Amino acid sequence: MSIRSACLALVILFFGLSAHGAESVLTINYPPDNSVREFDIVGLSVNLSKEAVSRIAVNVNGIEKSSIDPDNAVECFTVPVTPGINNIELVAYNGEIVLEKFSRVVFRRSELASQYRSIPTGFKRDYFHMETREQCTKCHVLEPNIYDIKPISPATFTAEKFDSQAVIAATSTCYSCHKNMMSQVYAHGPASVWSCLSCHESDTIPEYSVKKPDSEMCYGCHVEQMRNWMSKKYSHGPVTIGMCTICHSPHGSQNEFNLFKATWDLCINCHAEKADGVHVIGGSLITDGHPTRDRPDPVRIGKELTCASCHDPHASNFPHLWAFDVTDLFELCSKCHKNYSTQN
Ligand code: HEC
Ligand code: HEC
Ligand code: HEC
Ligand code: HEC
Ligand code: HEC
Ligand code: HEC
Ligand code: HEC
Ligand code: HEC
Repeated sequence: MSIRSACLALVILFFGLSAHGAESVLTINYPPDNSVREFDIVGLSVNLSKEAVSRIAVNVNGIEKSSIDPDNAVECFTVPVTPGINNIELVAYNGEIVLEKFSRVVFRRSELASQYRSIPTGFKRDYFHMETREQCTKCHVLEPNIYDIKPISPATFTAEKFDSQAVIAATSTCYSCHKNMMSQVYAHGPASVWSCLSCHESDTIPEYSVKKPDSEMCYGCHVEQMRNWMSKKYSHGPVTIGMCTICHSPHGSQNEFNLFKATWDLCINCHAEKADGVHVIGGSLITDGHPTRDRPDPVRIGKELTCASCHDPHASNFPHLWAFDVTDLFELCSKCHKNYSTQN
């Protein structure tokens, strides 16, 4: 043994012993560090010494998002994340005393935010369902069943009832871990009834992949929309290439039509220069733009004026995607300005 390797062996021995000496009160089983997410929540699962730990606080980028008083040796929870880097810090307390801190860094990718579209170096996509996850199957079922297409009741899973095969069979396999995903103001039809396998296929690689482009999947049910939009002369860029989920969440969101952002914010994400409405009447002597929001829509009563008041987000027979069946600009204006000539 050379002196160098002898030293190395000592170093290993030293660290091995010291790590053993001060055993950690908590171990994070999921998620792995430096992993990538596509949605707004992350699931966490930890093993802990419930005698030592009286409370776990979870901070995301310095703000407390969750706090639990652990009852079990395994605790699972979900926390929200925002586009970009999220520093998830778990703080284990005993009373007021901080025992230990743990951290996981995850990157929330977003197709709608140019600065967060590509994955930074050092981060990688972690496919949860591509591994057997024995740490989880002690309590959770990971094999899907026919009820994941049409569960009788998604919500019956509890730790106590867990052993009952009948309950498992009638329950959505996905619910126990993904339940928080569906706590949204607006929920998409099939996802709201936990018909998860109507889009996610269980025999794909990676597991639970969906058909691409999105339209392959969406038009499977939205046949009426497909026929309508396909019959139009022009379609909107992202729709033409079948990217429905750049605008719509397939699961649910805080906005009408399950949009990732409210309509106006969604549009200006890609068409920032149109926000001021100068493009509508810019050719005339009026220098201020036409309003594009914060006014009542004169045609769609009860709704706000937005970009979609004039433009169809999907398809139209007119090149600028008019939301109305009109052939020229003046006909468009007169849809809302009944006495257009006298009003101005
Ligand atoms: C000792 C049993 C046990 C083990 C082991 C376990 N879980 Fe859990 N988990 C539960 C219970 C019980 C729930 C609560 C289910 C409910 O309320 O419907 C849960 C809930 C969850 C949730 C949802 C939490 C929430 O509040 O939204 C996630 C995510 C989760 N588990 C992930 C995992 C992962 C990943 C693993 C493996 C690394 C794992 N669990 C291992 C028992 C366990
Ligand atoms: C043991 C808990 C657990 C169960 C049960 C579970 N999932 Fe997951 N799933 C996860 C976790 C954890 C992730 C990682 C993303 C996250 O943190 O939310 C994930 C990720 C995914 C992904 C993203 C791709 C991947 O592999 O990371 C899909 C799609 C998915 N789950 C679908 C499903 C469907 C459909 C079901 C039901 C048939 C299901 N899951 C059941 C815990 C679970
Ligand atoms: C209408 C189709 C559809 C339905 C129904 C649906 N999903 Fe998805 N899901 C998608 C699409 C599309 C994606 C994005 C995947 C992609 O683009 O690769 C996705 C992504 C996911 C992810 C990945 C999130 C991440 O962090 O990466 C999870 C988890 C997931 N779905 C779980 C579920 C669960 C659980 C259900 C049932 C409640 C469900 N889905 C129902 C279409 C659907
Ligand atoms: C398994 C069938 C199914 C698939 C696949 C599906 N949808 Fe749906 N979708 C529905 C049902 C059912 C409704 C609810 C219909 C209703 O309430 O009028 C709905 C409603 C919607 C709505 C809201 C309509 C409204 O008036 O609020 C939008 C937007 C939508 N889907 C978009 C999509 C997109 C985008 C995809 C592809 C990612 C998709 N759907 C895939 C069945 C499906
Ligand atoms: C550029 C963003 C965007 C894209 C891409 C997009 N949508 Fe939409 N979608 C919207 C907006 C905005 C609304 C609400 C329109 C309104 O306010 O009338 C909507 C409404 C809907 C509705 C309910 C109203 C209706 O017309 O039936 C369905 C269903 C729908 N979209 C499905 C789809 C499908 C399927 C795709 C992919 C082929 C798709 N969308 C692509 C933005 C988009
Ligand atoms: C993800 C990016 C994206 C989003 C979000 C988006 N668009 Fe577009 N839009 C495009 C692309 C790409 C084109 C096609 C490129 C071009 O012709 O300039 C386009 C073209 C258009 C055109 C037609 C231009 C022409 O005269 O040919 C209109 C009108 C339009 N978008 C309106 C909207 C409205 C309204 C919304 C919100 C509901 C919206 N866009 C949201 C990417 C987007
Ligand atoms: C009051 C009706 C109206 C509203 C509201 C409106 N537009 Fe337009 N838009 C027009 C008209 C009119 C044109 C055609 C202008 C021309 O031909 O010079 C147009 C053209 C466009 C074009 C294509 C122009 C090009 O350069 O190719 C895009 C993209 C567009 N609008 C996006 C938007 C977005 C995004 C919003 C919301 C912020 C919006 N519009 C709100 C009426 C409207
Ligand atoms: C979808 C409905 C809609 C269409 C189409 C529309 N407008 Fe308007 N327009 C409005 C609303 C709403 C206002 C705000 C009225 C108010 O403030 O009370 C407005 C205001 C205006 C104003 C006054 C500007 C100001 O700052 O007060 C002018 C000028 C105008 N529109 C011209 C046009 C022209 C030209 C067209 C056709 C290119 C057009 N509009 C198409 C809804 C529309």
